[in-house]
Amino acid sequence: MIEIDHLTRRFGNATAVDALTLTIAEGEVFGLLGPNGAGKTTTIRMLAGLIGKTSGEARVADCRIGDPATARKLRGLVGLMPEEAGLYPDLSAARTLDFYGRLYQVPAGTRAARTERLLTMLGLWDRRDDRVRTFSKGMKQRLTIARALINDPPVLFLDEPTANLDPEGAKTVRDFLLQLRGEKRTILLNTHQLAEAERVCDRVGIMHTRLVAVGTPGGLRGAASARATSIRLAAVTDAVVAAARAVRRAEVTVSGNTLTVPVGQPERDNPELVRAVVAAGGDIQFVSGAVPSLEETYLKLLDGERLDGEKSDRNDKVAR
Ligand SMILES: Nc1ncnc2c1ncn2[C@@H]1O[C@H](COP(=O)(O)OP(=O)(O)OP(=O)(O)O)[C@@H](O)[C@H]1O
Ligand SMILES: [Mg+2]
Repeated sequence: MIEIDHLTRRFGNATAVDALTLTIAEGEVFGLLGPNGAGKTTTIRMLAGLIGKTSGEARVADCRIGDPATARKLRGLVGLMPEEAGLYPDLSAARTLDFYGRLYQVPAGTRAARTERLLTMLGLWDRRDDRVRTFSKGMKQRLTIARALINDPPVLFLDEPTANLDPEGAKTVRDFLLQLRGEKRTILLNTHQLAEAERVCDRVGIMHTRLVAVGTPGGLRGAASARATSIRLAAVTDAVVAAARAVRRAEVTVSGNTLTVPVGQPERDNPELVRAVVAAGGDIQFVSGAVPSLEETYLKLLDGERLDGEKSDRNDKVAR
């Protein structure tokens, strides 16, 4: 449904997106994660046909991006929630959707039904007749998500759909996305919210100008992180910490009454670790495998990427 092949965009001498290669299947929800300036918005803007590419290729719903012959068709097949809302302040929420529905030549009855459904799902139906200028940032943002769907596009691009939302608003949008996922729509979303990516995305890509890693959220966590064992005790004493440290000669972290110890092989290391903690007087309440969060994985992968970047910079200098 979305096929991206060495897609590159430069602004002057700076490369914003470098040889991005990625395929997103029909019906898949794909999350693009990355720090500020990583090229996420630039990627979405190229795929939605808002800006040109420098080189490479991409096909969205069988339209080649940058091809004037299919530019119009492409616009009808994608919905875009941009980074900046760009709404008309004097239109009400319902009139906004009606206006965009007309632009896409959605028949009046369908327009009205979709407007009701979208505004209801996004928690704005009670405010449908209020002007956009009276809306909070989060309400405007939910309206731009509704607007992206008024023509029922098979492909949806969302640039940080929950960026300005409070926890309740974010949950409304997350539930909405999960519902869309059931409708076999292909969705590419940018986000800094790792918990959200984990809950709504089938796969995520970590981007830093280049694509650093791609996988399911669980797969990425498993691949990138060392294993660790957490031991919860009745009380943590210096003797217990010293004993745990001695077993693996590794850094032990203490959080409340829980020790976390990096282990090479849990089957081999855990029995010895537990014996040492008990011998040092520790009263063990729970022992569990510590699962790294997507956030830890993300930071680790980006750290590795930065180190690699520095190395290749150095190599460049040596070469010159
Ligand atoms: N129109 C433009 N002219 C010049 N440089 C640009 C332009 N648009 C983006 N850039 C640059 O391209 C790089 C990537 O920007 P982009 O907006 O794609 O990042 P992002 O991943 O969306 O970041 P954020 O998380 O902050 O939204 C940045 O260095 C940015 O300054
Ligand atoms: Mg952005």
